[in-house]
Amino acid sequence: SLVLVLNGPNLNLLGSREPEIYGNDTLDTIAGRLEDQAQALGLTLDIRQSNHEGHLVDWLQEAGSLGALAVILNAGALTHTSVAIHDAIKAISVPVIEVHLSNPHAREAFRHHSFVSLVARGTIAGFGAGSYTLALDAAAALRQ
Ligand code: DQA
Repeated sequence: SLVLVLNGPNLNLLGSREPEIYGNDTLDTIAGRLEDQAQALGLTLDIRQSNHEGHLVDWLQEAGSLGALAVILNAGALTHTSVAIHDAIKAISVPVIEVHLSNPHAREAFRHHSFVSLVARGTIAGFGAGSYTLALDAAAALRQ
């Protein structure tokens, strides 16, 4: 089964971006770890990152037409702003697992609202790179 792992704005800078909040792992390091975990779980991954909202909308639609098992989505700051991503999630029948490295609820008030949470199957936040690992286990558990 296919799982798409979609990453939004500024997540290409992981490793150097506010490491006290987001940790020292780069997105490539996290991706490598996820690939190993996926192989052990018998899942196929497609891991992508873009700084552009429309790319994320296109990829969510693609996950829908591919009939993916799940999408793991860290929409970055678009989490808090994007009705377009909210609508794209609603438009597909693929379950979306929202992930965040940090715990947005423990941070600034502008991070407390998520347009993604309203339409996600569930949310994993606050475990650093481990949030992705937990999300991939959650995706594997969606197989029946
Ligand atoms: C984030 C949290 C968002 O508030 C922030 O804008 C990000 C990263 C996280 O993974 O903790 O870019 O999604």
